Amino acid sequence: MKPLPQATPDRGARSPRRAITALLGSCMLVAGQGIATLCMSVSQAYAQTPIVIQFSHVVTADTVKGRAALKFKELAEQRTNGRVRVEVYPNSQLYKDREELDALSLGAVQMLAPALSKLAGVGGSDFEAFDLPFLFPDHAAYRRVVDGAIGVELLLRLEPKGIKGLAYWDNGFKVFTANRPLLAVRDFRGLRIRVQASRTLLKQMQQLGAEPSISPLINVFEALRTGKLDGEENTPINVVSQRLHEVQSHLTVSNHGYLAYAVIVNKAFWDKLPADIRNTLEGALRDATAFENSIAEAENTRALERIKASGKLSIYTPSAQELAQWRTALDPVSLAAQSGIRPELVKAIQVATRVPP
Ligand code: SIN
Repeated sequence: MKPLPQATPDRGARSPRRAITALLGSCMLVAGQGIATLCMSVSQAYAQTPIVIQFSHVVTADTVKGRAALKFKELAEQRTNGRVRVEVYPNSQLYKDREELDALSLGAVQMLAPALSKLAGVGGSDFEAFDLPFLFPDHAAYRRVVDGAIGVELLLRLEPKGIKGLAYWDNGFKVFTANRPLLAVRDFRGLRIRVQASRTLLKQMQQLGAEPSISPLINVFEALRTGKLDGEENTPINVVSQRLHEVQSHLTVSNHGYLAYAVIVNKAFWDKLPADIRNTLEGALRDATAFENSIAEAENTRALERIKASGKLSIYTPSAQELAQWRTALDPVSLAAQSGIRPELVKAIQVATRVPP
């Protein structure tokens, strides 16, 4: 991990405008001495210095998030004719889960797409509503929530913390993996299960009788391999791309919760961009978002097929009756109350998820 620098919002942007202003100032002082032409060409060179956006994330480059980050890079660089350079750092190369949020606040990176579960630390407990089990009956229901007023309102909550939310990116429904079969609620008892940093996810696992443990995604493979952890929950895309299926013996297709992302930027950096650049980047992000959201569901299906085909673990799909028992054990309304998620928000999500599109 790189050490975090002091808070300097311009740092990642290399502030070309500031550099040019300083340079032109000194050129005027010496112009009378006949080197104005030289100054002009130096200042033009500075004007061509690209604005750099460092985009850090914690999954591999071939996941849907990784591919969408690269799509954004391609479109942003193409459409700004090289005035912007996007450097994408996948798989926790720069920062692990929580560290990347600190890095964004400090301006050490400019762009992230963390799981919503990780945003409660900056935007408040309501972000954990997305962690409530069995709240979204299907993908379309989740989409209605993020595309509507609730989605907009939640992103605005990041702004007082110097973070601007620009888009939601899909991943998919989570499954459980473990080193023993998870067929019923009682099977979780005493298992050490990795979760993301979310109070709701901690409580979800406690409610099942497990011992939850928060750890960064990049550490999960090793913890499972060495037996420090017994299991985890994630989407098939994340299971296969982190090779977790190679160190687990069982997978249960529980689809108990939805994993989604918010694309966020350092607000001071974003607001200081020249308006034409910002508009172009927003257009590039809209198109990268459409690409991401159009492939996520199919890619999760494909990832589950790959896990099955690997023959490395046995896969169990609970019956409707078994899932009903899980739902009873994991009542979202009571979990929300324990995690400080506003009851009005839970109600509004329940209404939105039931309204047909
Ligand atoms: C991610 O998909 O970005 C991370 C999810 C996790 O930490 O499990």
